[in-house]
Amino acid sequence: MSVTAIVGAQWGDEGKGRIVDYLAQDADMVIRFQGGDNAGHTVINSYGKFALHIIPSGIFNPDTLCLVGAGTVVNFSTMKEELEGVRASGLAGDNLRIDKRAHLIMPYHCQLDGAEEQKKSSKWAIGTTKRGIGPVYSDKAARVGIRAADILEPDRLRTRLEMLLPQKNRQLAYYGLPEADIEALMDLCASWREEFGGQIIDSLPLLRDAVLSGKKVILEGQLGVMRDLDWGIYPYVTSSNPTAGGACSGAGISPRRIDRIVGIVKAYSTSVGGGPFPVELFDAEGEKLREVGQEFGATTGRPRRCGWFDAVAAGYSCWLNGFTEIAVTKIDVLDTFRTIKICRAYTINGETIDYVPETSQQDIAEPVYEQWEGWQCDTTKARSWDDLPRQTKAYLERIEELTGAPVNIVSVGPEREQLLIKE
Ligand code: GDP
Ligand code: IMO
Ligand code: MG
Repeated sequence: MSVTAIVGAQWGDEGKGRIVDYLAQDADMVIRFQGGDNAGHTVINSYGKFALHIIPSGIFNPDTLCLVGAGTVVNFSTMKEELEGVRASGLAGDNLRIDKRAHLIMPYHCQLDGAEEQKKSSKWAIGTTKRGIGPVYSDKAARVGIRAADILEPDRLRTRLEMLLPQKNRQLAYYGLPEADIEALMDLCASWREEFGGQIIDSLPLLRDAVLSGKKVILEGQLGVMRDLDWGIYPYVTSSNPTAGGACSGAGISPRRIDRIVGIVKAYSTSVGGGPFPVELFDAEGEKLREVGQEFGATTGRPRRCGWFDAVAAGYSCWLNGFTEIAVTKIDVLDTFRTIKICRAYTINGETIDYVPETSQQDIAEPVYEQWEGWQCDTTKARSWDDLPRQTKAYLERIEELTGAPVNIVSVGPEREQLLIKE
């Protein structure tokens, strides 16, 4: 068996959750390796429809151990709500574990996230999910964060909070927010300990033993490369690394142990939040992509910005991640388009480039498109490569050519079985 990393290759919402749900049907372990409940991973299967935020998308297979890895940030209050949603479908959900090293999202992180965003002008607003992601990862980097392990040891937790709160309260006061109260936080953490204490573990020996004994392991990413802290459209990024490299540090595995790195790409482009998006369409075609693709955020409900497939961004993503293959999702959304475009280069001040430049240059990048013939028929029932129309195959082959990675999975609808694997 093997270790497979599932990585978002665009601006997030590529369909990572549904691919992980599919592959987890025979997986022994799924690990979410970074991010927090800013994710919205939609899964539709025989249990119902779910928007998973922090719980790994393998949760629907009771035989899959689902680990929330060391590189993640966890809000136990929202995790509890999410788990209740999963349990309401009849699942026990007792295959969930949280690594001791995961950092905890506290109420003050969410307050600061909202307040920091509000203070920015519209040009500089990131459009965060307000889940406290920037502030909690800032504390982690500043080495003042509270980790899951800390709530298991109340004395240690109190000492850490006593060290941190004077500084945190000055930050809160700067934004006119009420001070954080240590007793209220200790009580909150006690309730989290009660609820999740038994599931907070050291995931590394489990992952190591699974890998060494040849089990099937999936590393589940959150968001996509274009919002990576280092390589995304900084500062309009998240505060972690959603790349295959991030999978290694976040899950605790060497790059040499990863057999497959699957880049998830949507058949067109979407982005939610601020920052440049060179292929954004403001016309009827963009509106049609949003309506047909139901492009509204799974976490915030915000309408997603839409555009044609950006092969420049996808190629960049391929380089950064080393995809062994690509999964193309939502191909069915293009079923009714007469013509379809692919952005194969950008022009900036008259110069044509085939790579993603630094953020300020992306603001002025003009997409260079090539046009493809649409297939104008229903693909939602295709279950093999041969079932796809000639034009769809040509479109997918062009994506392979431009990105340099083979397309091995194609999804043709949101449900678990609406997917085909290219043999
Ligand atoms: P993730 O965050 O990468 O897991 O993706 P999201 O769940 O945020 O967004 C993907 C959206 O597209 C969800 O609403 C899915 O149900 C839907 N979806 C996924 N694959 C397909 C597909 O092949 N066709 C269609 N029509 N919808 C899909
Ligand atoms: P999944 O896993 C799409 C965007 C936000 C914002 C920026 C930073 O479902 O693909 P953050 O809350 O992380 O500080 O926000 O990143 N963003 C997402 N966009 N899908 C997501 O997750 C996202 N998570 C964050 O809109 O621009
Ligand atoms: Mg999503």
